[in-house]
Amino acid sequence: MHKYSVLELLNSDKLGTEVHIKGWVRTFRSNRFIALNDGSTLHNIQCVVDFEKMDETILKRITISAALAITGTLVESQGSGQNMEIQVSKLEILGDSNPEEYPIQPKKHSFEFLRENAHLRVRTNTFSAVMRVRSALAFAIHQYFNQRGFFYVNTPIITGSDAEGAGEMFRVSSLDALHPPKTEDGKIDYKQDFFGRETNLTVSGQLEAETFAMSLGKVYTFGPTFRAENSNTARHLAEFWMIEPEVAFNDLDANMDLAEDFIKNVVKYVLSHCQADLTFLDERFKQEEAQKPQAQRSELGLIEKLNFVLENHFKRLTYTEAIDILKNSKPNQKKQFQYPVNEWGVDLQSEHERFLVEKHFKCPVILFDYPAKIKAFYMRLNEDGKTVRAMDVLFPGIGEIVGGSQREERLDVLLEKMKVLGIPEEDLWWYLDTRRFGTAVHSGFGLGFERLVQFVTGMGNIRDVIPFPRTPQSAEF
Ligand code: 4AD
Ligand code: MG
Repeated sequence: MHKYSVLELLNSDKLGTEVHIKGWVRTFRSNRFIALNDGSTLHNIQCVVDFEKMDETILKRITISAALAITGTLVESQGSGQNMEIQVSKLEILGDSNPEEYPIQPKKHSFEFLRENAHLRVRTNTFSAVMRVRSALAFAIHQYFNQRGFFYVNTPIITGSDAEGAGEMFRVSSLDALHPPKTEDGKIDYKQDFFGRETNLTVSGQLEAETFAMSLGKVYTFGPTFRAENSNTARHLAEFWMIEPEVAFNDLDANMDLAEDFIKNVVKYVLSHCQADLTFLDERFKQEEAQKPQAQRSELGLIEKLNFVLENHFKRLTYTEAIDILKNSKPNQKKQFQYPVNEWGVDLQSEHERFLVEKHFKCPVILFDYPAKIKAFYMRLNEDGKTVRAMDVLFPGIGEIVGGSQREERLDVLLEKMKVLGIPEEDLWWYLDTRRFGTAVHSGFGLGFERLVQFVTGMGNIRDVIPFPRTPQSAEF
């Protein structure tokens, strides 16, 4: 017999016919009503058993999270709360679940507790909704680029280069950790390591993506990236996924246009394809916000926030303009910022970014033309000699969601910059070749996938939007 998913049944015209489904028990009440969920949708399907006709030992085994196969007639529901239900004629227990031992009870659990049970938390409404939305977003991202002639490139995960120059990398080595081979001057001899050199997990696929943009024109990566920064915040992971488009002949303006159009399009996609999940998450978000003190509460609901992003232009301003606003801002004058803003050239902290987005402009913001000193070596130097063509997209509740730039395409300027920063030319000979053979203006950016999922689902902590989070001191599962 054909097995339907719950989603198929709820959207079907199978009323009055016999249907077959499989799923897990969410609740079982009055020895009669099973709420069965199979993950295809947030919604359960109600299955009604006639307990008088049923073997008592089977009835006892209908417990939370038991796996069942059910056959019965799909009928209009007598009760409120659902349109249809299945009148069960045959029920088979596929897998028992001991309710005394099952950690996820039908009550509110803390997110901390659920993180410790990340292998089971996806069985809750909140996490299954988040993970379905995450999946839809990933699809929307591929679709967006595919429909616009971009090619998907898989850049290496093990790399010898440090794209961001921040040095926060995880080493990849197969040397004996206790007795590594040493060179004459007592250092670890990486020549004897697996790759014959020092290698790390990548922090970004950008440099490799640039070489592909110089042939395929429009490319993007979408893969895992790794950062060994000891940031225990609600917005940092040690392993996260990044989308990095790179486009030949795009300048910074075109890059900003692409970032804004891209984000709006994928948000639009989930708004129209994930209605049930977003409605549920919207409700959750409202309850969560209601617990917060008035001043910290979001003025908009989740779905309102998403629509707001679609309907408004992202405010674009230079770093220099932003510094002026911040310097003269109330929290700065009242010394409420943890990092006071006194002079041009300081790096912006998330408290500053969030002030600009949430309090000052009250809309997404793109800051550009940052001081060269606080940005990576590959960004194009402006005529003023002190700022670079960098851009960060800042979002409410998130802070930086995108970081990107127009790239330095002039070989001499790039070499000079690398020299000043002490980046060895030999390490990046292949990257420099793109500037030697047919160099051209080009730009790109990186979007942190989990930060986007956080924004779209309204989840407060980035650890709750990735299946198995990796953070300092934590790599269970
Ligand atoms: O600003 P970042 O470091 O930029 C780059 O890596 C460039 N190579 C991108 C490019 O131009 N192709 O990182 C890009 C984005 C950030 O804006 C943020 O959304 C996310 O990646 N991100 C993180 N997300 C989660 N955890 C972390 N530790 C993150 N670090 C950066
Ligand atoms: Mg950045």
